[in-house]
Amino acid sequence: MKKIIISTGGGDAPGLNAVIYAVVHSCYKRGWEVFGSRNGYGGFLDVDDLVRLYPKDVEGIYNIGGTILGSTNKGNPFSCPVENLAGEIQVVDISDKIMTNFKRMGFDCHIAIGGDGSLDIAHRFAEKGMPVIGVPKTIDNDLEMTERTFGFDTAVSTATEAIDKLHSTAKSHNRVMVVEVMGRDSGWIALYSGISGGADVILLPEIPFDIEAVCKKILDNELRDKHYSIVVAAEGALTKDGQGFNKGKGELGRDEVILGGVAEWVAEEVGKRTEKDTRSLVLGHIQRGGSPTTFDRLLALRFGAAAVRMVEEKKFDHMVGLRDSHMAAIPIPEAIKRRKKVNLESDKVVTARDIGICLGDSLEDE
Ligand code: F6P
Repeated sequence: MKKIIISTGGGDAPGLNAVIYAVVHSCYKRGWEVFGSRNGYGGFLDVDDLVRLYPKDVEGIYNIGGTILGSTNKGNPFSCPVENLAGEIQVVDISDKIMTNFKRMGFDCHIAIGGDGSLDIAHRFAEKGMPVIGVPKTIDNDLEMTERTFGFDTAVSTATEAIDKLHSTAKSHNRVMVVEVMGRDSGWIALYSGISGGADVILLPEIPFDIEAVCKKILDNELRDKHYSIVVAAEGALTKDGQGFNKGKGELGRDEVILGGVAEWVAEEVGKRTEKDTRSLVLGHIQRGGSPTTFDRLLALRFGAAAVRMVEEKKFDHMVGLRDSHMAAIPIPEAIKRRKKVNLESDKVVTARDIGICLGDSLEDE
């Protein structure tokens, strides 16, 4: 008999509910108890945020986006902003309180579903003695030790569908449409959706772009009697001069900057330099929503079931990952060491170049 607590942290991703479903059912089959912690570590601090999960509570959730437990990317218990009596914000470490409550409530293991930030926090708790198993989640697909994270396939499908829809309107107005997709500092969503959606230009964080190269591709299209172009820009794309695009930190309790603005900038520059009519749009959180694709659902269910097997095997401070199509246990510190970047020698990048997609490389590099 074991008592498990499960949490979802960081930005949501389609497939979170499928992991919860698999964990609850796999535990139930073994006669174990499962509790869900609301909004990240909420349930470790307040019993009102702790919810007992039975199979009936997760019925039919495996194909629903989001997370029934709620999530937050501002809830690092090791540096938690709280308001004191004088109304000032103080950053405090509440991890000891969480450890005490975890032990007092008699939990045997915490299954933490999250991206690199949440897994880093889970590892710090493992160092304090909490048995932890990680499950990798992020639409960005930027965790190095797993071939895929769930949520990515759904985000790519959503972005591809949106890009598909831009073609007819771009063509009707002879316009250049610049669409910004998510992915932080990795260009996976931009590359996959850009190739699949017939983009003329794809801008990746991994290849600093030359706006002149982008304009040249658009003008080459004109010469070939194609009077519209589609540019897909990853939110983390940088110019060859190192200019990135973000909206600053902005949010209390969160270290990373909020990315955004590249599509607007590219559209404006292309408009000025080519005299083409341009429009920009940001796909934003649509990419995080909706029902997970079959691929993501299956991966998430496999991750959830594998995480419970790892509890049985006492593979603590490990993350479940997809390696050579199999479920593997990876030490969390190794899993979060680096962000997974697009390999510029990979077949997908070569394919993009072969089918005439401009990747914004400097003209001198051609
Ligand atoms: O990491 C997932 C992600 O969707 C990124 O692609 C994006 O930059 C970020 O989260 C957006 O975060 P938020 O939901 O806080 O706006």
